[in-house]
Amino acid sequence: MEWGMKNRLSRLIQKDGRALFLPIDHGYFQGPVHKLEEPGKTVEPLLPYADGIMLTRGVLRSCIKPSISKPVILRVSGGTSIIGEDLSNEEITTSVKEAIKLNASAVSASIYVGSKYEHQTLMSLSKLVNECEEYGIPVMAVTAVGRELEKREARYLALSCRIAAELGARVVKTYYCRENFEKVVKGCPVPVVIAGGPKVESEFEVFSFVYDALQKGAIGVNLGRNIWQNNYPVAMIKAIRAIIHEDATPKEAQQVFEEEKK
Ligand code: 5RP
Repeated sequence: MEWGMKNRLSRLIQKDGRALFLPIDHGYFQGPVHKLEEPGKTVEPLLPYADGIMLTRGVLRSCIKPSISKPVILRVSGGTSIIGEDLSNEEITTSVKEAIKLNASAVSASIYVGSKYEHQTLMSLSKLVNECEEYGIPVMAVTAVGRELEKREARYLALSCRIAAELGARVVKTYYCRENFEKVVKGCPVPVVIAGGPKVESEFEVFSFVYDALQKGAIGVNLGRNIWQNNYPVAMIKAIRAIIHEDATPKEAQQVFEEEKK
């Protein structure tokens, strides 16, 4: 692996082999989602505890101070909206030249396996990898499911993750599933991080699925709504950080959360 690629990956994936990425890219198809109406304000207190932030060029340029030292994962796919016909109809929105100008440490694009636009999104990922490899920029593939949240089961996720890795993604972001998640990770030859999906009922549930995903081989998270939609987002990210980088159990993470809430 080239020095530049290694350097970018090591800024994102920490020395312990783990990573806590904080995504705030949801507006690229959902608009001003709850608690992300002003992304800059939402993310500022959370940044010290994240290993990287994932966002679009528009939010990066307008809402994030250029003096930050956190690595940026630039979302470069899109072109759909939550009220449009088909969320899978994504293409590449942002050039690699732009990613370099914005000093991105990685870029990220969604694939929609099994959808109407499967081929288009897989070819977009492949072309993106071709170009990014020229410049030593890692691509994080996002195995997206659009509105079909029920697709989040092991067989489907394993298929999507493996395809993303085969096409050259250096990291794959997928969803957690309770059953057979270890098979998803085992079948994917590159590091896997999990998203959280819509906010769940309790903090303990988040701590439990993050912990379980790590036990089953994930290297960390790319977790958004379950952090910044919580009423105590800083307590939440600190507790999740304890699971990822200090091997805290869900119970210990809950203690961190309760302490930090005060
Ligand atoms: C959707 C994304 C998000 O980055 C991803 O889903 C992680 O966020 P959350 O934990 O809120 O699901 O790719 O735009």
